[in-house]
Amino acid sequence: MDRFNFDEIIDRRNTYSVKYQALKALFGREDITPLWVADMEFRSPECIRAKLEEYVNSGIYGYDAEPPQMKPAIAQWLLQEHGWKVDCSWISFIPGIVRGIGLAVNFFTKPGDKVVVQSPVYHPFTNVPKGNGRIVLRNPLKDRKMDLDHLDSMLTAEGPVKMLILCSPHNPGGYLWSREDLIQLAEICHRHGTLVIADEIHSDLCLWGNRNISFASVSEKAAENSITFGAPSKTFNIPGFASSFSVIPNPKLAKPFYEWLEANEFSSPSVFASVGMITAFTEGKPWRDAALRYIEKNILYLEDKFAAFRAGGVQLVKPVRPQSSYLVWLDCRDLLRRLAGKDDLKPEDQALLEDYFVNKVKVGLNTGVMFGPEGLGYMRLNAGCPRSMLEFDLPEVK
Ligand SMILES: Cc1ncc(COP(=O)(O)O)c(C=O)c1O
Repeated sequence: MDRFNFDEIIDRRNTYSVKYQALKALFGREDITPLWVADMEFRSPECIRAKLEEYVNSGIYGYDAEPPQMKPAIAQWLLQEHGWKVDCSWISFIPGIVRGIGLAVNFFTKPGDKVVVQSPVYHPFTNVPKGNGRIVLRNPLKDRKMDLDHLDSMLTAEGPVKMLILCSPHNPGGYLWSREDLIQLAEICHRHGTLVIADEIHSDLCLWGNRNISFASVSEKAAENSITFGAPSKTFNIPGFASSFSVIPNPKLAKPFYEWLEANEFSSPSVFASVGMITAFTEGKPWRDAALRYIEKNILYLEDKFAAFRAGGVQLVKPVRPQSSYLVWLDCRDLLRRLAGKDDLKPEDQALLEDYFVNKVKVGLNTGVMFGPEGLGYMRLNAGCPRSMLEFDLPEVK
């Protein structure tokens, strides 16, 4: 018998879970299966609960001190999982990755500065710089790869461009970038004076035997000109702890940024964040490995289900198999063409797809266009859940 029970259905209503609490506001109804926001329906590793129980039971919750084991635990994890040798002096605690991106945007750029994102991409990459009065430029992916020629010419035409936010592995597609592409990206951004923020939150969720390559490890130019953000949050299902870290090999970037974080106490973890992270990285690997094997089977299950969903000889929804992460990018363009009764899709047609999934299939997914206009005709499904939550029917489309 498996040591971990990923089939267990846990009732998360009334547990402060945004995935459930926001159903009505987002989808207009609550009687649907939520497969949207990126946390998993699995109970987090027992070792984390057990460790934090000691603290909770102490009944005294004074000011927290960062445990001396935290940075070595992060460095050891990066070495063991990614072959990336990191010095502890390069590391700082960060209270969540989106917040980290906000802090970096505020520290390294000014209002009116330009920031590049490679869309379709995790929406806060666009919303955070925009919300801080920065100009966001899009370098859309081409055939599910970074369009590095376009990036180079855009940085020349639009320069100076202060920052590029890299999603590696990529959300929503679950793509891993090749070493060659990362080296070329580092070279282009270095040449144009564009700082790379590498968000590697999904890097510990590689599937099918894939390996992640840490951006900063690919070349000296990458190490010199980047800030990497990582976290145990997705991998061990502890995003509620707001526990993340940054790695900056270049002291010219690290020193002023880390001094500023410290001056504002942004780099002080809570006990949940620090002890949760240490325990995840030192004791959580068996749970993570078992969860990934379960998720692979979920993805195969979904592939079979969608393969059988056809009309007029056409497969209507084609899941893009993620190389890393439990998020599945669904290419629903043929379904949308059928729903809209035309080939030429327009942004306003996306509502038909959303309506189909919410009101016919009764599942709450992320709509593709929230990741950028390139997401037209796509939906994102969270497969980090018991398989029974994926056993929805796909009603026929005329
Ligand atoms: C690429 C990416 N970065 C960051 C986050 C969120 O990180 P945090 O909760 O630490 O802000 C997510 C969550 O889905 C994500 O997909």
